Amino acid sequence: MKSIGRCRAHTNIALIKYWGKRNEELFLPMNSSLSLTLDAFYTDTEVTLDSTLDSDVFFLDNVKQGDKETAKITNFLNLFRNRANIETKACIKSYNHVPTAAGLASSASAFSALAGATNQATGLNLDLKTLSTLARQGSGSATRSIYGGFVEWFMGESDLSESSFAIPVDDATWDIGMIVIAVNTGRKKLSSRVGMKQTIDTSPFYSSWVETATKDIEKIKKAISEKDFITLGEITESNGMKMHATMLGAFPPISYWEPDSVKAIQKVKEIRDMGLPCYVTMDAGPNVKVLCKRSDMIEIENKLLEDFTRDQIIPSSVGEGIKLLSQDE
Ligand code: PMV
Repeated sequence: MKSIGRCRAHTNIALIKYWGKRNEELFLPMNSSLSLTLDAFYTDTEVTLDSTLDSDVFFLDNVKQGDKETAKITNFLNLFRNRANIETKACIKSYNHVPTAAGLASSASAFSALAGATNQATGLNLDLKTLSTLARQGSGSATRSIYGGFVEWFMGESDLSESSFAIPVDDATWDIGMIVIAVNTGRKKLSSRVGMKQTIDTSPFYSSWVETATKDIEKIKKAISEKDFITLGEITESNGMKMHATMLGAFPPISYWEPDSVKAIQKVKEIRDMGLPCYVTMDAGPNVKVLCKRSDMIEIENKLLEDFTRDQIIPSSVGEGIKLLSQDE
């Protein structure tokens, strides 16, 4: 007997960052975070529950994955199988749609798409709120990719898994865009999981980070509700920098930056000083993301092309939440 689910999820970039878990097993974060879902980067995943299989099989971009990668997927599928009271194994086929050289293959879109596809294959019919708590247990940032536009992920209460989920805040259809400057597309040297733990355990700035991120969430939500782009950008840039400053305070210090990251940040500042509002944010890697007005995107791209190649500049508009796919999509 076979049962199939297919789902697309877009990646998201945090404007107020998540950097640290208070409960590692349940992926419960130290602070709430807020993101923008991007249209240009997404994952399509098909889950086929198949009673003739002896174990789960996982293909990523048509390449069969090894035991380590598959075990992660198996653990995740078990969250659904336990709820559905089944033990049926699955064949999982995932395709990352990321413009060549973007270096943004994202666990956020991956686990969000897997959650949506498994929900359909198991026939569990879970609501989006529950799906976001489950996606969270694959990868924290996946909690937010269930929805489109601006999305808030609540930190939740104590060790209560069901209290930490995402909600859509605003559809971001008011002149918002993002440009990714791909500085280096290789695999990151330090995983976000290890980087977070090292920061919590050793950075003397960590408690201030949590305090300031909590305040930033309130400020950015106000800016979003007032459609105040300048304040939105200023808080985004400041929050991202504070996260990286917290990491620099770790022992040994953590930095994901490369010389070209600094070059990109300086270029964005230069463009801003010329009168085009645009602001940077960075995650656990050297690539730089530029929050800007959608209507300014081409002009900003042209300025960035003075210092970077066409391949390195990837514009995106705002993405939607997860959607189920038909067989021919
Ligand atoms: O959930 P992960 O392992 O993808 O960690 C995400 C960490 C950051 O991208 C740096 C911040 C964030 O909130 O997405």
